[in-house]
Amino acid sequence: MQAALDYLERNRDRFLKLLLEFLEIPSISAQRAYDEHTARAAAFIRARLDDAGFKTGLYHGDGLPTVYGSRIEGDVRPTLLLYGHYDVQPPDPLDLWDSPPFEPVRRDGILYGRGTCDDKGQLFMHLKAAEAYLKTRGDLPLNVKYIFEGEEESGSVNLPDFIESNTELLKADVVVISDTALFGSGVPSITYGLRGLAYVEVTLTGPDRDLHSGVYGGAIENPVNALAKIIAGLHDEDHRVTIDGFYDSVIPLSDDERATFASLPFDDQEWIEEVGVDTARTEKGYTVLEGTTARPTLDCNGIWGGYTEKGAKTVLPSQASAKISMRLVPDQTPEDITEKIRSHFEKHLPPTMKLTFTDLHGGYGALVDTNSPAMKAAAKAMEGVYGQKPFFVRTGGSIPIVAEFKKLLGLDTVLMGFGLDSDSIHSPNECFGLDRFHQGIQTIIRFMDIYKG
Ligand code: BES
Ligand code: ZN
Repeated sequence: MQAALDYLERNRDRFLKLLLEFLEIPSISAQRAYDEHTARAAAFIRARLDDAGFKTGLYHGDGLPTVYGSRIEGDVRPTLLLYGHYDVQPPDPLDLWDSPPFEPVRRDGILYGRGTCDDKGQLFMHLKAAEAYLKTRGDLPLNVKYIFEGEEESGSVNLPDFIESNTELLKADVVVISDTALFGSGVPSITYGLRGLAYVEVTLTGPDRDLHSGVYGGAIENPVNALAKIIAGLHDEDHRVTIDGFYDSVIPLSDDERATFASLPFDDQEWIEEVGVDTARTEKGYTVLEGTTARPTLDCNGIWGGYTEKGAKTVLPSQASAKISMRLVPDQTPEDITEKIRSHFEKHLPPTMKLTFTDLHGGYGALVDTNSPAMKAAAKAMEGVYGQKPFFVRTGGSIPIVAEFKKLLGLDTVLMGFGLDSDSIHSPNECFGLDRFHQGIQTIIRFMDIYKG
């Protein structure tokens, strides 16, 4: 293991150069115009796996390609299934970036660019940890199977089918994913809980065309007003979601878990200042940390209708639309919650409006066992790098494939991520500290050595 760690030190610059090449590819999964680039990013990782002597495959299902690679060192060694995603979020708004999103640059030890943290930089750590072993001892301490997806940021709609039809190929002992954050800078943590997601779009249609608001206003209900009223009613004064049955399946936080949350090094005031608000707004009875990681939420992600260009136009619009997403916690299901919000809109729809309701996508949340041998090995590996035991934490983000790995392959996941909440993932100026990139590789090298037994 020491030889692999030394190899990493000697090759820092080379690793960085190669990572920059990977980050330059605009692999935006949400937009069809970028499919050619997304395919190029898949080919790039596959080539790296080929170089390292992995048996590789590129799978084209109905969506963007999935890259597969494996190295089986021997039957008696445990097998890791390492998952990452090479697709990224769209970079807009472009004018808020200090440097172009797909021209990654290093400033003061921090790498800026789309995908630096989420997740190209983090999946790259796994490739480099394997290389460090292969170049120094000729094999890996255990069997490794990689699966790199190109549609995570679009809801992983096709990957469950791939997993279901390749259960033998993906047979493993545990899944490892680096696509989450550390609890704080220099504060090691392992994530044991993820939220799920239900994402819908609604359109209210009133008159069959835009109308003059002076000629018709006063006798026609305005869809923007009607939609705004329904959305405003989705929370009550305690900031609880008002949809009937929304909280029915929520596993409540236990007293023990709440005590652990309270003992974490988290400062509400610091968080408030970092976010740039004057005060937090949580569901009544819950702390900021509980609200952002272990309670379900509902947010309107976008709303449009009528005239939104410069200047004034006196129009009574025909339509108004909104995108609404709900972060779910175990055991809420996206199917059930989507039906419940649909019923809510149907119930509150004024008789003057027609409703178009679209289920965009959804995913299950997950809670993983913190006492498994792989979790213990991950905790020890983190302690080896950071000099202190990691905290076990929940995150508010979603990686829906984690629940699918459990359902389809029976596998638990170790969420060993090295981002920071302040890395601006999905935002302008996404970044990843090079210190964390290297700590990540070191942790993975140590984890492989400890978990092999
Ligand atoms: N890496 C994130 C998930 C994440 C975010 C983990 C923050 C920990 C902290 C992942 O790539 C992501 O953004 N997922 C989407 C999933 C969605 C599109 C189904 C998310 O959470 O919005
Ligand atoms: Zn991600």
